Amino acid sequence: MTKRSLLAVLAILCGLGLMLSLSAPAYGQAKPKDTYILKGSPMGGVKFEHKLHAERAENKCDVCHHASKPEKALDQPQQACTGCHTKAATPPMKTNTVGAFHKTATATAGTCIDCHKAENAKGKKAPVKCLDCHKKENT
Ligand code: HEC
Ligand code: HEC
Ligand code: HEC
Ligand code: HEC
Repeated sequence: MTKRSLLAVLAILCGLGLMLSLSAPAYGQAKPKDTYILKGSPMGGVKFEHKLHAERAENKCDVCHHASKPEKALDQPQQACTGCHTKAATPPMKTNTVGAFHKTATATAGTCIDCHKAENAKGKKAPVKCLDCHKKENT
């Protein structure tokens, strides 16, 4: 192979590598987005800062992403909640979308609220009122 054709091959390989790294991974662990807009409630969507929250949870991912459960097993260590916790739970699943994020519509406990209450007791200002999370502007 001449030096020139070797360079051409290298350039093509670099291009392919860049394309692969820019496109979403086709397999393996998905990368989380920095921010998610969680939609579904007629009161409005919830803007969830994933990157900030992973730091707030000291990178203990299982604070929110529970271990695999028999009724519907995980394919990877962390997956989108809404992929399994649908608006109406389909048996054998029992926990619907709202239940995954806060227990019942009164929202006094659950995944998001438990930590917010604990943090607020330490002087933080994490939202616990319905319309501080659910906002019409997040559509
Ligand atoms: C405070 C709660 C919380 C913590 C802590 C957290 N996550 Fe998440 N994560 C979420 C939520 C909520 C979503 C979006 C779910 C949805 O769209 O249904 C998400 C989405 C994801 C996704 C995207 C999954 C997909 O298939 O689209 C990945 C990957 C992920 N998280 C990884 C992590 C990792 C790694 C950590 C630890 C460093 C972590 N998360 C910590 C709540 C959390
Ligand atoms: C691969 C499927 C899957 C994913 C993804 C998933 N879950 Fe679950 N989850 C389950 C199963 C199965 C159960 C147990 C059956 C049930 O309660 O419906 C469960 C139960 C729960 C419960 C009730 C547990 C209890 O002890 O009362 C909560 C809360 C919950 N999940 C929150 C979340 C959150 C938040 C996320 C995303 C960060 C998430 N789940 C992602 C499958 C999943
Ligand atoms: C590990 C504890 C913890 C968990 C779990 C948690 N949060 Fe938070 N959240 C916080 C803290 C701390 C703040 C910021 C308080 C401050 O700035 O004083 C916050 C702030 C927020 C805010 C305001 C905007 C921002 O990010 O600063 C929203 C909205 C929010 N959280 C949504 C959620 C949702 C939705 C969930 C569940 C998927 C969740 N949080 C789970 C700790 C947590
Ligand atoms: C800490 C943030 C937070 C607070 C506070 C909160 N919610 Fe939610 N709620 C969520 C998230 C995240 C979801 C899942 C995304 C969605 O469905 O909008 C959700 C879902 C819901 C749903 C289900 C919508 C559907 O998809 O079927 C209802 C109903 C709901 N919330 C009502 C309430 C009410 C009423 C209050 C106040 C008593 C409240 N929420 C307080 C974060 C919050």
